[in-house]
This record gives sequence, C-alpha cells and structure tokens, in this order.
Amino acid sequence: LETGCLSIIVLGASGDLAKKKTFPALFNLYRQGFLQSDEVHIFGYARTKISDDELRNRIRGYLGKDASPGHSEDVSNFLQLIKYVSGSYDTEEGFQLLDKEISEHELAKKSAEGSSRRLFYFALPPSIYPIVCKMIKKCCMNRSDLGGWTRIVVEKPFGKDLESSEQLSAKIGELFEEPQIYRIDHYLGKELVQNLLVLRFANRFFLPLWNRDNIDNVQIVFREDFGTEGRGGYFDEYGIIRDIIQNHLLQVLCLVAMEKPVSLKPEHIRDEKVKVLQSVLPIKDEEVVLGQYEGYRDDPTVPDNSNTPTFATVILRIHNERWEGVPFIMKAGKALNSRKAEIRVQFKDVPGDIFKCKKQGRNEFVIRLQPSEAIYMKLTVKQPGLEMSTAQSELDLSYRQRYQGVTIPEAYERLILDTIRGDQQHFVRRDELKAAWEIFTPLLHRIDNGEMKPIPYEPGSRGPAEADELLSKAGYVQTHGY
Ligand code: BG6
Repeated sequence: LETGCLSIIVLGASGDLAKKKTFPALFNLYRQGFLQSDEVHIFGYARTKISDDELRNRIRGYLGKDASPGHSEDVSNFLQLIKYVSGSYDTEEGFQLLDKEISEHELAKKSAEGSSRRLFYFALPPSIYPIVCKMIKKCCMNRSDLGGWTRIVVEKPFGKDLESSEQLSAKIGELFEEPQIYRIDHYLGKELVQNLLVLRFANRFFLPLWNRDNIDNVQIVFREDFGTEGRGGYFDEYGIIRDIIQNHLLQVLCLVAMEKPVSLKPEHIRDEKVKVLQSVLPIKDEEVVLGQYEGYRDDPTVPDNSNTPTFATVILRIHNERWEGVPFIMKAGKALNSRKAEIRVQFKDVPGDIFKCKKQGRNEFVIRLQPSEAIYMKLTVKQPGLEMSTAQSELDLSYRQRYQGVTIPEAYERLILDTIRGDQQHFVRRDELKAAWEIFTPLLHRIDNGEMKPIPYEPGSRGPAEADELLSKAGYVQTHGY
C-alpha cells in the first residue's frame, strides 16, 4: 500500500450496510495488518446525533465473537480508529465539519511524502448520491496541496432502468472522473468469481473446449432459501432481476463468456466484458419465466397487488462467433428450497457414442460460488467391477478439503482493499453498467407495466414448474446426484 495519510469515511455510518458489511470488512483488513499504520483514520458520518463511543458500541456487536487470541484487544484498538461526525447530507455545514476533522488528522499525521488519501464509502440510498457527491466535491476536496487522491465507493441500485441509471451516472460523472469512482458489485469479490479468469485462461484443458462446438448450455444460478425478510419495501420496487440478475449474475456471465483479455490490466478486462454485454441479443418473452412466492404480499410494506417477481429464469443469447446458439440460462429466486450460487457448464453429448453415455448424463463442469466453494467435473467412467458398464462420477475440488485452514476473505474485505490500492479490475465501469441496463430494460418495463406476470410458487420449492420446462427446452439435461 502507498504511504501517507489515509482517511476512510463511511457515509451512512449508522445504517445497516455499514454495520453489517463495511465496518466488519474494515475490521478484517485491520486484523490482517492493512490498516494498522497510525496514518489511517476512519470517520463515520450520518445524521443521527450520537457520540464517538455510541457509534463504536453499535459497531462492536458486528465484529464477531472470535475466541482467537487478541480478538478483543484488536476490536478495542480498531474501534479507537473511528471518529464520528454528525451532519445532514444536503447542506454544507456537516461536510465542512467533516473536512475539518479529516484535515486535522492529516496535518497531525502528515508523512514525509505528505498526501491526503480520502476514501468515501457510500453506505447510502442512491437517490442522495448526487447531492452527497456535490457536497464532497465542494467541501472535502480542498487539500490538493497535499497530493494524494479522493475516491468514492458506491453500490447498487444504480438506477431502475437505462434512463435513470444514465441520469445518475451523468450527475456523478460531472463531479468525479471515472478512475475515482468504484461501483461495487460484491459478487466480483467472491473467491470463485475471481478464480474464473484463472480457470479459463491458465488451463489448457478448457481453452479448446470453451465454445459453441462443445458446450451445449450454461446455467448461472442464484437461490436463497429465505424471502425478503424485512426488506420488502426496497425489494418490491426492484424485484429479483434488478436485485440479482442484472448485476451479480450478469457480471459472472461476462467472466464466463468473455474473450481472453490482452493483459490483466483492469481496462483490458473491462473492455472484454463490455463486448460480451454488447453482444447479448434482445430477450424474448418466451424465454422468460417469472415467479412470486406465496406469502410475499403478506409483508405490510409490499402492496397487495404487487407484480414484482421474486423468481426469474431468463435466457440470454450471445451473438458472436464463440457463443452463437448456446443458451445462457440465468436463474435467481428467493424463498426456494436451498441457498446456493453456482455456474453449470454443460457439454454436448459425445458423437458416435458406443457406451450409451447419454443414459448416465452429460459431462458437466460446475463452479459452486457458495456455500462450500467447490469446482467439480461430472464425467463418465467405467463402473468398477467385472462388468463393462458405465457410471457418472466426479473430479472434485472442494475447497474445504483441499485448502484446510485457509480463510477465504469476505467479498467486501477484498473489494475495499482494492479501492485503497486503486485497482479497478473488480469494479463496474460506466459503459459496462449502461450495457447491462440495455439488456434488461425492455423486459423490466414490460413487467413494470403489468404486461408480464409472475407465476405463484410455494415457498421452499424449486420455483415455478414452468422454469424447469424452459430449462429442458433450452437443452439442459438434469444430471444425477451430487
Ligand atoms: C444483495 C441483494 O446484493 O445480494 C440481496 O440485494 C441478496 O437480496 C444478496 O440477498 C446476496 O448476496 P450473497 O453474497 O449472500 O449471495
């Protein structure tokens, strides 16, 4: 990491995201020695009028009850790094006060190179991003004499459709340059998502097979075994496509489908991702199944006549030389029978099969993002014994077994470290965001207008049966066991 003063400012410090994700991620980085220099300071900012200690006590409960040696001492030392400033989001006074506090810290700790590195983490509703950006620009960026940088970290929802997203991007873009803006999609911080480029481009096995000649279909699946749980008000405005598919699953699709980048430079990678998004064909109504779990509307914050899908299966088709004709089945749902996120790459049947392999199921390459990270390959083998019969088995790389004792970092932890390091590889670029909205906006408008309706499904089920039918129509063959 660079040297010089680093101030991490968590805006919306008393809210849920900050408590549950941002501060615990900062704490983990602290424990691993990334924030331990006396040049690092953390500021919490929010409207609530509380003292430094009150904020610290609120956060304490979320930093884990790790019994490992030194944990409680680390918690106390970490909390001492945090100062709280209270102020509104739309007037200058609060931000001037914040600037004063940060500057005092910088002047007191100014290192030889002297620099002012300010990271503003927006744990805020996107509707106030523009005004907050304006306030930061006006009140908190006057120390250019010290050198260093100012960066902002923002999180979805980035708008509700192409138009609103573009408006938001334009407003932020007037105030900050693209290299200063870190749009978080926390799926890009997951271990196995980060492994995708390595798997694809560092293994000779996959290089010749990764195309329409060999792959029949690809499934990218997200399931949760709980409903909207107190977030009904937020969720109902967005629905499962905006909440999960348009961002998290689409990012995964890009990494599965993109061409090899020229290098690992963030812009080279993001250039390739944009090309994939721009090659996605318009979604056909008959390749969409929407669902809503029974009981979803019982939430008092959800309207009785809500048309919002809590489940969706959508087939995306990529119009390029590598993928023409291969369905990318995107599937996400709440209140289903399990919690799982995985990528399933299903290969075509063996030509001229002499073993009746088809009966056993297809070759399939599975990357399980969570829970219990794993990479496995289903393949046909001879059933051990005197008979010549075949069976399906697995080559299995389960992380828990293979990497015993290795802690897999939390997505937020990794991504916040990237923002401090100035690495934008795992963040969404503006043109990527635009291309992602272009794909889904027509479908979302049709759902919002009530032209497409979700099918009710039982909570704890697989979702609507129509989704399974769509999968079979797309060529997916259910494999057995495992
Ligand atoms: C969030 C969604 O972005 O991702 C939530 O808003 C969802 O609805 C969550 O529960 C899932 O994240 P993870 O990391 O638990 O798969």
